[in-house]
Formats: sequence, C-alpha cells, structure tokens
Amino acid sequence: MSLKQSEAWISLSQHRRMVAELHLRDLFEKDPHRFRRFSLELDGLLLDYSKNLITEDTLRLLLDLAAAADLVGWRQRLLQGEVVNHTEGRPALHTALRSSASAPLLVQGKDVRAEVREVLARMEALAEAVRNGRYLGYDGRPIRDVIHIGIGGSDLGPRLALQALAPQHDGPRVHFVSNIDGVELAACTGRLQPATTLVTIVSKSFTTLETCANAEAVREWFRAAGADEAAIRRHFIAISGNREAALAFGIDPQRLFPIWDWVGGRYSLWSAVGLPIAIGCGMDAFRQLLQGAERMDQHFEEAPLERNMPVILGLLGIWYVNFMGLGSHAVIPYSERLRVLPAYLEQLEMESNGKSVDRDGNPVGYATVPVLWGQTGTVGQHAFFQALHQGTQPVPIDFVGIVEPLPGYERMHEQLMANLFAQSEALMRGQSAEEARRQMAAEGLSAERIDDLLPYRVFPGNRPSTTILLRELSPRTLGMLIALYEHKVFTQSVVWRLNAFDQWGVELGKQLAKGLLTALRDGSGMAEHDSSTRGLVERYRAWRGLD
Ligand code: F6P
Repeated sequence: MSLKQSEAWISLSQHRRMVAELHLRDLFEKDPHRFRRFSLELDGLLLDYSKNLITEDTLRLLLDLAAAADLVGWRQRLLQGEVVNHTEGRPALHTALRSSASAPLLVQGKDVRAEVREVLARMEALAEAVRNGRYLGYDGRPIRDVIHIGIGGSDLGPRLALQALAPQHDGPRVHFVSNIDGVELAACTGRLQPATTLVTIVSKSFTTLETCANAEAVREWFRAAGADEAAIRRHFIAISGNREAALAFGIDPQRLFPIWDWVGGRYSLWSAVGLPIAIGCGMDAFRQLLQGAERMDQHFEEAPLERNMPVILGLLGIWYVNFMGLGSHAVIPYSERLRVLPAYLEQLEMESNGKSVDRDGNPVGYATVPVLWGQTGTVGQHAFFQALHQGTQPVPIDFVGIVEPLPGYERMHEQLMANLFAQSEALMRGQSAEEARRQMAAEGLSAERIDDLLPYRVFPGNRPSTTILLRELSPRTLGMLIALYEHKVFTQSVVWRLNAFDQWGVELGKQLAKGLLTALRDGSGMAEHDSSTRGLVERYRAWRGLD
C-alpha cells in the first residue's frame, strides 16, 4: 500500500483542515502548559517545539504515520548495521564511529568497533605529535598550519566543528580549501610556508575533481618551494576509502586513514575525517564530540517515540511539507560560531532526502525534502526576516541558541538572546489590527496616518518555529546537535520510504562537466549540447580570447 493510501496519511489530511482554522496565539492562551507539553530536554539541550502548529492529535497521527512506515524496525536495522543503503549494498554505520560499546559489531566478518578504536588511537598519536611540536616539518621546524582539502561531506563537518569550537582551538591553525576557483587555495599558498604546513586530503572516493585538483596544486606548491618527495610524503596525510588512489598520489601508507564504505560522506565527521579537529582542539575535544553524538544515539534508540527528539523533529518536518504544503525550511543559529550549520544541514538533509523515487524504485508521489537554507541571527533579521514575518509563504524555522555567553560579551549576549526569543514570539503571535493601532497611537501618529499604515503594520503571526537551546556550545553539545539532525533526517527518510544514504543525483552534472571541459578548451563536441549551453560556451571562449 502506498504511503498516501495509509490510514494515518488520510487522517492527517483531514486533520490538517481542522488545524488550518487554529492560531498559535490561541493555542498558547488556552493551554498554559503548552511549553511543558511540547518540549524535551537532554543533557543541556532543550528542544522547544511548542511554537509549532500542532495539537496533541497532530502528534498522535504523525506517530501513527511513523508506525505505519515501521520506524522502529528501520531504526533497528540502521543501528545494527543492516544494509539500509540498498542501491550501494551497504550499511550506514556512522553510529559505530562514536559507540563506546565493546561488543563486536560485525560487517562482512570484521568487527567495525575494533577498527574504529584502532583508527582513533592512530589519530590521537598523530594529532598529539603535531600539537606538542614533536612532528617536525621537513626543515626541522614544528607544524604551524594545516591545509584541509576536501569538499561536501569531506569538508563541511570539520569546517563546522572548528568554527564552533574556536574558543578551544589551541593547536595549529586549520585552513579549508574546498572550491576549485583557487580563492581559498591562493589565500593559503600566499601566506603559509610549506615547511611548517601539514596537508590533510580528505576524499572518500579520491576521484573528486575539486579535491584532486587542489591536492595536486598544493603538492606543486611544495615542490616549487624545494620540498623533495620524502618531504612531501611527510607533510601529506590522506583520509580516504580509495587506498590505491591515495597511494598512487604518493601518500605514505602510515599517513593514510580509512573512510570505510559503511560511512557516508555527509555522515563522516566522526571518522578520521575529523582529524583536523583533533589537531586543532585536541583528541579529548574530539572524543567529547563523539560522546555527545553517542548520547543522542542512545536517546534516539531508547526514548519512546513521542518523547524522542529526532523523531519529533522529523515528524514536524513531514507535517509541514506533506500536509501544510510548505516546501522551505530555515535554520537560524544565533551564534557566529554556528555559521556553517546551515550549509552543513543543506548537505545532510538535501543530499540525503532530496529524492523522488522510493526504496522499491517507484516515484514517491508526495513531496520529500524541503529546501533548507539559513543564516545566523541577528544578521538574517536585517535581511530576509521581513519575508518570514509578512511574506506570503510561511517558512518553518529552527532557531538555535546558546545560553552561555562568550566571556567578556555578557551584555551583548543578552541582547542576542532577547532577539532570538523575540523573533520566535513575534512570528508566533503576530500583531493584530487592534494592537497595531494602539502602537501607532502611542507613537503619536494621526488618526489618518494610522488608517493609511494599518494594512502594512499588521502581522499575521501563526508562523511556526522550533527552538533548540544549548546550555553551552561544547564539543559534547555540538555532537548531540549534529546527531539530532542526522537521526531527524533518517526518521524522515523512513516515512518517505527513501534511501537516505545514496546520492545518484549528483552524478549527471559531473559527467557533463567532463565533456564541457573539452568544449571550453578546444571548442569541440558542441553539436551535442543545447543552444543555451552552446551560447554560454561560445561566449566564454570569445571573452577569454580562445576563438
Ligand atoms: O558529489 C557529491 C559528493 O559525492 C558528496 O556526497 C561527498 O560528500 C562529496 O561529493 C565529496 O566526495 P569525496 O569525499 O569522495 O571526495
């Protein structure tokens, strides 16, 4: 039976008509315990979902939908290492990367937990040697900088974590080179010295165009500075699932760390991909990050579904996408330390669930992942919040706030947090015509002016948001936060009947780019392209004087 024919789906569609009549402001007025009823707390992470357009019945019906999709069964399959990624024939065991359990967990006869422990020990040895200055560069000086080369899941995790954990960063500086336009690369090669720079090349496939090109360019930079092949071997570390390609590049086997095929790129932060975090902030910090994620794994596995944070977050998303028709979702962290979070979640959510064919190969026939986007608060308030308050398309929002201020900025932090809480309240309550009139009268406006301005100063309100409050932004709470979203994404994939762990949709553009590269260089093969693509290539070649 298709999802849309299930009793739960039909009931939710009917229930939606009733909810469309409700206003969040009234729901809060009628129920003084709404916050208590619709919030959850776990080890310094508070999830307040009371400002969502739901009732107890909505949640009950959404949980029925999750039951109809066998969420409990799929959760077990995921956590026990069954092949949940059927198109690539693999489990998705990112949870094993942060598991402290010692009982063997076998994948193709190998105990993955033992392998993880061994790699963590190797990471620790390397990170500590670099941090305490024992790992010397080729001219005998200690390492001062790390260039991290990778893209997508091989970049965004460490980028997010190192930005978030900046106050704990006491090791060598870490610089990220991801794009292929040369901008980040030039910033590194222009300022750093090869002799005191370590390079971490991260690519699960070791075939990714951008990463390979950047790695080769950095290697050339070393050669141009006089580094010989032995020096390069000493300075280049690879983290990859393609051992042969990494060795062929010239990586020393001792400096090669695995990405197992049971770890998806966008779920790989917890593997040796996180090495720059260990180098920058120390292995203790990295282990705390893992512990935080493991805490969320336990919660996801053990908490009843109606008190289960990732499940609730996932079901709320389904409510908005499939029943309220809202195809966009914003994430607004009130901290510059979390400014990479929206980009990280764009990949996590949209690469995982941006699909329209179900696990049986059939078109799904319903909407799946919303467009996820975001920006830090308060910065976004002064840009696009106008549309969030008064635009025609309500956008469900996740606000993320941190209670602990940056030392020395306590007063400013109060203003920051007041803004966060004010935004979610304003979006929820809105401002009625009567309130707008009163306010304008208090501002001393004439009756005529009040009448003119009234339509513009009314806020509809009833705009849903969820607030995630962290007591502090530590490695542990960051780990919890990321794992919360990972399991949210999985929950949604189960209900939508998708495989969250493949990404065939990124392949076509990569293939076409190969042909177009030749076309750009020599103008050949143009006949097979459409007139727009031909026109663009021709103009490119003309403007570059290549004709
Ligand atoms: O093109 C998409 C993608 O394959 C992502 O899934 C992945 O995170 C990224 O590219 C980088 O891939 P790799 O780690 O193999 O270089």
